[in-house]
Amino acid sequence: MVYIPLTRRFTKMFVILPLLLCALSILPRINGFVPIRFGRPVRPLRKEINKPVEYRLPQEAVDVIRKINGFYGLVGPDVNITEAKTLYELFTGNGYIQGVFLEKGSVQYVRHVIRTDKMVYEENCGKLPTNVEAIPMLEWMDKRDVLPSPMNLANTAMMYMNRSLYALFERDVPILMDLDFANKTVRTVGRTKMEGIAHFSAHSVYRHESKTVETIDYDVCSSEVKYAVLNESMEIINHTTIKTNYLPIIHDFVSHEDTVVFTDSPLIAWPKYLFQGKVPVIFNPFLPTRFYVMNKHDFSYRIFETDKSMYIFHYADMIETPSTIIIYASVYRNLNLSGLDLQGCYSRITIDKLSEKVSIETSNHFKYANLDFPIKWGDKVILRNVNRRGATQFVVCRGLELVSIIDFKDRFICGEPVLVNVEGGDYLLCFLYDSEFNGYFTIVDLANFEKQITIPLDTKVGIGFHSIFVPYDRNDTIVQCKIMT
Ligand SMILES: [Fe+2]
Repeated sequence: MVYIPLTRRFTKMFVILPLLLCALSILPRINGFVPIRFGRPVRPLRKEINKPVEYRLPQEAVDVIRKINGFYGLVGPDVNITEAKTLYELFTGNGYIQGVFLEKGSVQYVRHVIRTDKMVYEENCGKLPTNVEAIPMLEWMDKRDVLPSPMNLANTAMMYMNRSLYALFERDVPILMDLDFANKTVRTVGRTKMEGIAHFSAHSVYRHESKTVETIDYDVCSSEVKYAVLNESMEIINHTTIKTNYLPIIHDFVSHEDTVVFTDSPLIAWPKYLFQGKVPVIFNPFLPTRFYVMNKHDFSYRIFETDKSMYIFHYADMIETPSTIIIYASVYRNLNLSGLDLQGCYSRITIDKLSEKVSIETSNHFKYANLDFPIKWGDKVILRNVNRRGATQFVVCRGLELVSIIDFKDRFICGEPVLVNVEGGDYLLCFLYDSEFNGYFTIVDLANFEKQITIPLDTKVGIGFHSIFVPYDRNDTIVQCKIMT
């Protein structure tokens, strides 16, 4: 006899909910979905804002601001960071964009909660269940247009392709945004239609020269990773599927000239956690990690293994020679999605193609630092450091050598900065907040880290993940991909 643990949560999710939804599918729909009362209507934590920012700064600073023309935007989850208890909670918040339009010295701050199908539905019907055991059922309902996808979050990164801005989440399709430079507004257009691929990586790579975009999708049920090359209309040109050893929860990948690399980290399904309300995945620190190195032209691949267990969120750099592949990345020796602790050790991973050995090394500078969100700056990499006081520093390094530290002392970094080059000068743009969450827009002159321009935004800001800068000279937003109806 098979024992099925019909706990209340299990019964509600797998028996009552599907029956109820089937019965309700004949009702009139809200935004195309079946109206079911999940709770009180959701109101975004953060309100829409669009306002000019006034500032008084020395002429030298005003001259720098005048030189930078474009939109700096940071996307993140609309959650209260002081109340979040798990990474899963942070990763599954509804997306919002905070940004500044910079034009000839004027600064306009905007905040827009991305109006995904899920967000619009929740404003009417209450919050969709977020507990992880409900996700497969909700996704099944999404495929039948009964409910919006619980992964319709658009909270991780943005991509600007062919004059269109997209908000991305790795378990969803891109959400097209309208970035309107004339009126200095950001608004949501809708989900893009994709065929042949279910999800679009938040770290997809757009190639301006070939007008193509490379992305990956993963399927945890079949342990498969799909690598695809698409055109600007989001149609697949080429693709391949690779089987992995573990659950392929892959956040980022490296796409080099001829090679794609991704990591198969020892993430294992742990169904027992379903009944404890936890993410049913564990990271096994005693199992090896595998690096998949794929030829982009013929899709042949090799697997290189290290006995060290690790997870990588983001790759900082990769150098390939005929005999080696050197990767710089923050390496996590543990990953608990049901907690908040993360410790990223910036490391160099060397894959020897001849001996097939993988070695990992770091330097004393980075052993106890907590670095991630790398951005390339010439031969250097800039990373955000979380120390005892919080995320108050950017660390600049060349290889594993520490070059410098940009310290904001009593202010905290909201999320990924962006590097802009104007009139031969490199500047780092980012949002900061103080202990009261008052927001500041900051420009750091990378020729002299002490030269920091700080503009108080006179509003509270929140945390974000990845950012983008869209210069003014590429400013006509043209909606030309297919939108889901
Ligand atoms: Fe990321």
